[in-house]
Amino acid sequence: MDKLKIEIANATDFIDNNDVETLQKEIYFKNIALEQKQGRGSEFLGWHHLPSSIDAAFLADIKNTAEIICKKAKFFVVIGIGGSYLGSRAVIEALNNPFDSFQSTDHPKIIYAGQNLSEDYLHDLLELLDQNDYALTVISKSGTTTEPAVAFRLLKQHLENKYGEQEAASRIIAITDESKGALRTLANQKGYKTYVVPDDVGGRYSVLTPVGLLPIAVAGFDIDALVAGAANMEALCTSSSSVEVNAAAKYAVTRNALLRKGFDIEILINFSPTLMYFTEWWKQLYGESEGKENKGIFPAGANFTTDLHSMGQYIQEGRRVLFETLISVKSAKHKVTIPEDNQDLDGLNYLKGANIEYVNQMAELGTTLAHIDGGVPNIKLEIERIDEANLGQLIYFFELACAYSGYLLDVNPFDQPGVEAYKTNMFALLGKPGFEKETAAIRKRV
Ligand code: PA5
Repeated sequence: MDKLKIEIANATDFIDNNDVETLQKEIYFKNIALEQKQGRGSEFLGWHHLPSSIDAAFLADIKNTAEIICKKAKFFVVIGIGGSYLGSRAVIEALNNPFDSFQSTDHPKIIYAGQNLSEDYLHDLLELLDQNDYALTVISKSGTTTEPAVAFRLLKQHLENKYGEQEAASRIIAITDESKGALRTLANQKGYKTYVVPDDVGGRYSVLTPVGLLPIAVAGFDIDALVAGAANMEALCTSSSSVEVNAAAKYAVTRNALLRKGFDIEILINFSPTLMYFTEWWKQLYGESEGKENKGIFPAGANFTTDLHSMGQYIQEGRRVLFETLISVKSAKHKVTIPEDNQDLDGLNYLKGANIEYVNQMAELGTTLAHIDGGVPNIKLEIERIDEANLGQLIYFFELACAYSGYLLDVNPFDQPGVEAYKTNMFALLGKPGFEKETAAIRKRV
């Protein structure tokens, strides 16, 4: 497997060497804190050596469940929000043929629910499921999150009406806490097949647990290769904290050195449209892990070349607080060449016979150079191609770098206390029992 490469040459002119030296020294100690479970949030380090601890029997069980679902269902609904759905969606959309929904496939089509509260979305989903065979997984570590709970209540009833209680139960897989929570209680009562979200793995670090692996396997992708890619990166990065060896440490040091020079916003860039949800996963990982105590780099995303015709203007000439991290993919999976045209009215004959990927690569290089000239530092992460092994590497790389970055910022990268504020207001406005005081207070404001 080709190793992920990190290039920081286009960032070094924008950072202070003293900051880099200090951060490199700090990373040494942060790495020890992680290894020895002495840092903040150390009860949530189950992801740290997870890839190397996943065994073949566990993967075989997930693949077996996936096969059973494939035989029964045309659609597989993944119910979850935040870390309970973004990881699987990131991998599935990266690997899927983007036109899958318009053609028949060997595997169930994956659809998502419980990641919003839109009545129209759920109405249209129920209408689709009326006419098609389906199964579902409901994923919630806490078992109490409102969005997936609402979607699950609707779909559970729909399944039971459609197939009867017993068959419905065989089409539901619950992924939740080992012993606690409403979903665990219901799963035990109804006899659903279940998988556990380990206690020591937070939602946004859970893609390599059943939370991500089951939907990815149902979608027909190779979870062995995904885990092997992550294990490879784990072995490389945890063998040393030196930035010469450890790409995650290098990334964490560089982005924090940029932050210290006023680059507050990081844009994750791709030139491969199927990586759009990978960016969404990354935004959650970094946003929820770092954005607290009035600290953190704001994680944004852009999909090029599409967004060069929208965000491109701001990036080139707007406020100089941005830096870019580019996921550069070396090879496309397929070859498409530009044909010759007799009239050449569009003036494209100078590219006749060229692969589209070559044009894309020149767009990537041209954009990087233009943005550097415009004062936007660039960190480049290069992977060979978009496949399971390379995505596995990227996932572990970003998880470890996120933990390092959180520790460099001196925050707990594994909690998300700020997410509670909207929930409290929503429960107060909805009149949830137990929120009477908050209801009275908020009604005075609105
Ligand atoms: O990263 C996290 O911990 C969160 O984004 C959660 O995944 C999200 O809030 C969903 O929580 P739960 O799985 O408990 O329903």
